[in-house]
Amino acid sequence: MIYITGDTHADFELRFNTENFPEQKEMTKDDYVIICGDFGGVWEQVEDRRERWWLNWFESRPYTLLFIDGNHENHERLASYPVKEWNGGKVHEIRPHVLHLMRGQVFTLQDKTFFTFGGAKSHDIQGGVLEPEDPDYKSKLREAFDRGLPFRINHVSWWAGEMPSEEEMREGLRNLAAHDNTVDFVVTHCCPSSTQVLLRGSMYEPDFATRYLEEIRNSVNYTKWFFGHYHDNRNVTAKDILLYEQLIRIV
Ligand SMILES: [Fe+2]
Repeated sequence: MIYITGDTHADFELRFNTENFPEQKEMTKDDYVIICGDFGGVWEQVEDRRERWWLNWFESRPYTLLFIDGNHENHERLASYPVKEWNGGKVHEIRPHVLHLMRGQVFTLQDKTFFTFGGAKSHDIQGGVLEPEDPDYKSKLREAFDRGLPFRINHVSWWAGEMPSEEEMREGLRNLAAHDNTVDFVVTHCCPSSTQVLLRGSMYEPDFATRYLEEIRNSVNYTKWFFGHYHDNRNVTAKDILLYEQLIRIV
């Protein structure tokens, strides 16, 4: 069995408890739950008590938890975990059965292939990204609160690594080419520019991540494409599916 869901933002109890997700009783560690980014379970500067509790809780579930990264993750901490080869692609091992599926990888799970590519541009930074090292940080922080627009703090609640690097994008194209540009599933956080337009019109500007995914959309054969980021559940097309709280079975 493989289930997939959208952003969790470290809010795990309701979606994954046995009352709302009773199917887990039939699952084993060879079954998977995939989160389409904004996992939020690796967020603080160090693994604090709350994070440790939830990561250990997932490790104790009957299934293996997999996530791609969204924009709201501590990308510096994610990068500090050991990288392992796992089912054809690279993962960061957060726990033995809590794995970060890295960008640009193709995994084979239960005879299905998955191309994974996390990351996205944050939309909730209209108030800017403050630098804690800035000598005027305190006054700027006060101003940001007063303006009332959402803002973030570099290395505390925002990380430049939310957007992919050139190398990650190249690696993705190489790994797809090695699979004849054909996969069963694509799992991303944001979506291709054209899917974004179908979803929200001109509300969001295309950026280099959505353009890269557009290139993939136009060159890769896939059965279904699952993504998160936009906080809604919607079949944008028959193949392109936005997930938020819904937890659906795909295998
Ligand atoms: Fe999100």
